[in-house]
Amino acid sequence: MSGVEELNENANGLTPSTVQMLEFHNGLSMAHILSVIAEIGVADQVTDGPLGVEELAKRTGTNADALYRVLRAVASKGVFAEVSPRTFGLTPLAATLRSNVDGSMRDVFRLQGQLCMLDAYAAIGHSVRTGEPAFEHVHGTTLFSYLTARPELSELFSSAMGNSARQIQRPVIDAYDLSDVRRLIDIGGAHGHLVAAILSRYPTMKGVVFDLPHVVPGAAGVLAKAGVADRAEMVGGDYLRAVPAQGDAYTISHVLHQVSDAEAVTVLTNIRKVMAPAGRVLVVDPVIPEGDLPHPGKFMDITMLMLTQGRDRTKAELVDLFEQADLRHVETVALSAPSSIVVAMAA
Ligand SMILES: C[S@@+](CC[C@H](N)C(=O)[O-])C[C@H]1O[C@@H](n2cnc3c(N)ncnc32)[C@H](O)[C@@H]1O
Repeated sequence: MSGVEELNENANGLTPSTVQMLEFHNGLSMAHILSVIAEIGVADQVTDGPLGVEELAKRTGTNADALYRVLRAVASKGVFAEVSPRTFGLTPLAATLRSNVDGSMRDVFRLQGQLCMLDAYAAIGHSVRTGEPAFEHVHGTTLFSYLTARPELSELFSSAMGNSARQIQRPVIDAYDLSDVRRLIDIGGAHGHLVAAILSRYPTMKGVVFDLPHVVPGAAGVLAKAGVADRAEMVGGDYLRAVPAQGDAYTISHVLHQVSDAEAVTVLTNIRKVMAPAGRVLVVDPVIPEGDLPHPGKFMDITMLMLTQGRDRTKAELVDLFEQADLRHVETVALSAPSSIVVAMAA
């Protein structure tokens, strides 16, 4: 029997379920490899054209043979292409790992590869057994106090979030008309990407980026680059205590899913107490469909389980939070992105 026949026979001997489960099993190494490829910056090196692995190893301070093996593995999934033997070039998937490009995923993967995150993932059994965040179990403190004590990591976190914000901001802005809003306040606005994009679209609107005091100064550059700094304020604070007043619209993007139900009601109540009459709250979060339907929010929810006291919620769960904060659900706008806009007003 030739080698090829043996391979076929083995392949035929595997059930589709086994093949699928092996694929899931390999997902762990795929995620780790992508993190390291993002960290060493391979995609930036081949922006101007393909490079041989020896040159890539020299430029990235890595071992050429090991680098070849990891690139060969991810190229088999369409991330980079081996354009000639041991020479790799960009593909559309690999291009997302470049820095400073619209839609860059580089910092998202770099963040995932940080030891503090990997340690938390490794302790997911603790979360499953107790319902408590593995991150707090491993590091003895909450995610955000851990980040506050580590400025470089906090910067990487905000940059990764900013990049995902850029991914979701277009669908949000396209899907929801804000032309009657005079003052928009973005709660947990990180580096101001959403405010910058919305103010660019509506030339008379004023905006506020509200986030933790050490985070919010990072918005200055983004607002200036968008040419909206003269219409934007940056306010530092704690959304569990108070939020800026008199907004006609409060966006709160990927924030409620990182806090417990009780904290979410506190944040929503803090908004409701100070918003302008007829003001609106626009929650931008995944809305988990009922049943077994596939939805990326179902995996984002596991990240929330490990890292925070939060969770990704169904529409019914969000409506229940609104009601506890004396708000009423007005509409839900499904976006093409993993998240939707769920709108509420004072009850
Ligand atoms: C997951 S990020 C979301 C950022 C951005 N809105 C987005 O959609 O990408 C959550 C943000 O909440 C901020 N945050 C965490 N705790 C906070 C608090 N107690 N008060 C105000 N902001 C807080 C974090 O600094 C972070 O920028």
